[in-house]
Amino acid sequence: MSEVKFVSALRFRWLTPMYDFLVGITMPEASIKQSLINISYLTDKTSVLDFGCGTATLTIMAKEHRPGINITGIDIDKAILNKATEKIKQKKLDIKLTGYNGETLPFDDGSFDRILSCLVFHHLETSVKQKILAELFRVTQNGGQLFIADFGRSESWLQRLLFNTIRGLDGYKPTSANAKGLMPLLMHEVGFKNAAIRKKFKTIFGEVQIINATKQ
Ligand SMILES: C[S@@+](CC[C@H](N)C(=O)[O-])C[C@H]1O[C@@H](n2cnc3c(N)ncnc32)[C@H](O)[C@@H]1O
Repeated sequence: MSEVKFVSALRFRWLTPMYDFLVGITMPEASIKQSLINISYLTDKTSVLDFGCGTATLTIMAKEHRPGINITGIDIDKAILNKATEKIKQKKLDIKLTGYNGETLPFDDGSFDRILSCLVFHHLETSVKQKILAELFRVTQNGGQLFIADFGRSESWLQRLLFNTIRGLDGYKPTSANAKGLMPLLMHEVGFKNAAIRKKFKTIFGEVQIINATKQ
């Protein structure tokens, strides 16, 4: 399935089984994910995509928050999708999960009202970010919205300094556009409108920002 190289959830594959635990103790994970859900105003029958769903923590939170939504999680990493499948089975939730080849999303144009993505884009080099954003634009309905939570350029020098830990771990190239604060511009370039930072979280690894944009 995944021919394209990718950065695993915690950089090293052997850390994947510990992802939920390690993120839970080092990041304000629940607040970030809950804010992403609240800000996206999910209503019954909304079709939602969780891009780079990982272990499906956000996917499950969104479904539990608004059970009437139709939500799909997609990720490039088969191993993490296995973990996500186990969690969803345990909770007996109606959530679709899929892998893909890292290039073309396996969905028709305009399939989703809302696209959510948490802590994924700093794993993608700028050219990959551009391709994926164009794909996300394609699968968003007219009037639909994209919500990305990820590291961005902080006004605080301390937060910028702290982001270097993640940059060292996940790579300077993939994190470069995040560090320069270019995510809103990249979203705008593929056609999304009104891309802007809606919320900021200070963390021990640098500032996480929720950025939202619309397909008009
Ligand atoms: C830090 S984890 C975040 C997982 C989840 N969104 C969360 O917040 O818990 C980053 C995720 O992005 C996925 N990923 C990396 N490159 C990807 C790509 N090109 N397409 C889709 N997912 C990708 C990884 O497999 C991993 O599950």
